[in-house]
Amino acid sequence: MQNKRILLGITGGIAAYKIASLVRLLIKSGAEVRCIMTPASCDFITPLTLATLSKNDVIQSFWDTETGSWSNHVDLGMWADAFVIAPLTASSMSKMVQGNSDNVLLAAYLSAKCPVIVAPAMDLDMYKHPSTIENMHKLESFGVQIIPANDGELASGLIGEGRMAEPEEIHDYLQIHFAKKRDFLDRNVLITAGPTHEAIDPVRFIGNQSTGKMGIELAKAFLNRGAKVTLILGPSAEQIGHPNLTLRKIVSGMEMFEEVKSVWNNNEIGIFSAAVADYRPAQVADQKIKKKEETLGLELVKNPDILFWAGQNKAEKQILVGFALETNNEEENAKQKLIKKNLDFIVLNSLNDSGAGFAYSTNKITILDKDNKSISFQLKSKKEVAEDILDHLKNNS
Ligand code: C5P
Repeated sequence: MQNKRILLGITGGIAAYKIASLVRLLIKSGAEVRCIMTPASCDFITPLTLATLSKNDVIQSFWDTETGSWSNHVDLGMWADAFVIAPLTASSMSKMVQGNSDNVLLAAYLSAKCPVIVAPAMDLDMYKHPSTIENMHKLESFGVQIIPANDGELASGLIGEGRMAEPEEIHDYLQIHFAKKRDFLDRNVLITAGPTHEAIDPVRFIGNQSTGKMGIELAKAFLNRGAKVTLILGPSAEQIGHPNLTLRKIVSGMEMFEEVKSVWNNNEIGIFSAAVADYRPAQVADQKIKKKEETLGLELVKNPDILFWAGQNKAEKQILVGFALETNNEEENAKQKLIKKNLDFIVLNSLNDSGAGFAYSTNKITILDKDNKSISFQLKSKKEVAEDILDHLKNNS
């Protein structure tokens, strides 16, 4: 953790007394530490203790009355390589979810551009309360990483879940975090994902079974490895959030096309995993179509092939990856698409492989490249498949 800059946020729970040990461990590992405290946390550990151990001033408010200077929370968020909030109380957690910035720690959280890692600590009933569980899900959907609380003896005398992860565990988590690959640092990546819905009338549409899972796992993998991602996502129940993510939610293929056209040339890498409807209704009825005749004709017109457009408008340095979901003559069809759409790689998943395809959380892929090389992978979780695709891109482009 040599020279890593860690902004350590402390909120008002009894576990705050353990943060002295965490600061010592981090300093010993070579990190630079700055502490930022909520007013309530000062009842559990003194700013003087943390200032002495961290060898830095402690930020407690927007305004430093001694020096007369303003604590710039935006700069702090930019300075840090990671913002760790430990302990995180139920109250501060709910404020983070709401975007409440009534103290300097919360303001720093709202403006942080670095990864945010939290270690919740609370009594077991609070930890298990549906509102806490929902808040943790929301924080995760914002891209916050959670180090779960342990099972053990709590300050209340009760025994159960809610005990903050030990300083050694938080330290180890950070060590693993910094050891991770950051081999796509600051590279701009465009990803399309999910299905599209093509309206028939105000309540009906033509859609498909895509869930968006594969594209979302790809977005997460790129974000974890340092990239800046623009994700253009069709209707999907999946959640994703991250400071380096620009999320554009769309509904139809035409909307996806407009978004792609406006951002493609700002990106070095394009991964097109969306299941775009090939056709859309020629006319969208203003009112709900009434049930009348025995048969109903629906005229369909072709949607633009967005990936084809990106291939036609690809600059020398841009890398373009498409997906192919085939049911027959798989490799040959995928190869044809690779050439026709001017791709660098195509990821083939076959519906003939059990466990691969839309609704599964696993996938089995073959990557074909423009030099006619192909590599097949085992059935894996979509998360692992995403890592394989990134490794392949890194090693072959
Ligand atoms: O030609 P086919 O639809 O099988 O090609 C699949 C690939 O093309 C996928 O990468 C998909 O995201 C992309 N595509 C697209 N726009 C369309 C149809 C497919 O971007 N209208």
